[in-house]
Amino acid sequence: MKDINLVINPDDYLVLVNKHNKLSSTYIPSDLELINELYSDSKQYLRKKARSAFESMTNDAKKIGLNIIAVSTYRSYDYQDKLFNKYVKEKGIDYASMCSARSGHSEHQLGLAVDIANDNLDYDNFDKTKESNWVKNNAYKYGFILRYPLDKVDITGYKYEPWHYRYIDSINLAKYLYDNNLTLEEYNKTRNNLE
Ligand code: DAL
Ligand code: ZN
Repeated sequence: MKDINLVINPDDYLVLVNKHNKLSSTYIPSDLELINELYSDSKQYLRKKARSAFESMTNDAKKIGLNIIAVSTYRSYDYQDKLFNKYVKEKGIDYASMCSARSGHSEHQLGLAVDIANDNLDYDNFDKTKESNWVKNNAYKYGFILRYPLDKVDITGYKYEPWHYRYIDSINLAKYLYDNNLTLEEYNKTRNNLE
């Protein structure tokens, strides 16, 4: 891929990491914390604020009978490399490129992305669940955004991922993006135009 920039502000909660913006192979967030085992399927880590916001969200969901579980969170550069190559081997490069990021290009390396499921732990059917519907409409209240929406494939470069949420540490901005149906790519474009 042409036009790849190295990300210079990886700790910024709003940082754009995508097919054009790459993290250094040495970047590891310094404030990763373990998510409460009540809300995860195994040992899962997010950056401190994201971990806390995620637990608040899942806790509120639980109060109304919904089970939201973190199934993939922080992933190292090397692990992402293995994951991408596994997809390539199993499904071919074209398919892999639409659903998995190359190493350095994944928000999971930021410790700010969380893939969620309900008790069924079934990605393919997650979109049809009550949990998915609730998170879609409430995640912004905790500073999370749905990162790869169905109608934004051309902009994000990835297939619809109803399970992948990104923490941005601003409830106001998360609400603005939700209300206006904007991706982080579109938000960054307007921000850069204003500067
Ligand atoms: N599935 C998303 C794009 C990732 O691999 O980060
Ligand atoms: Zn993800």
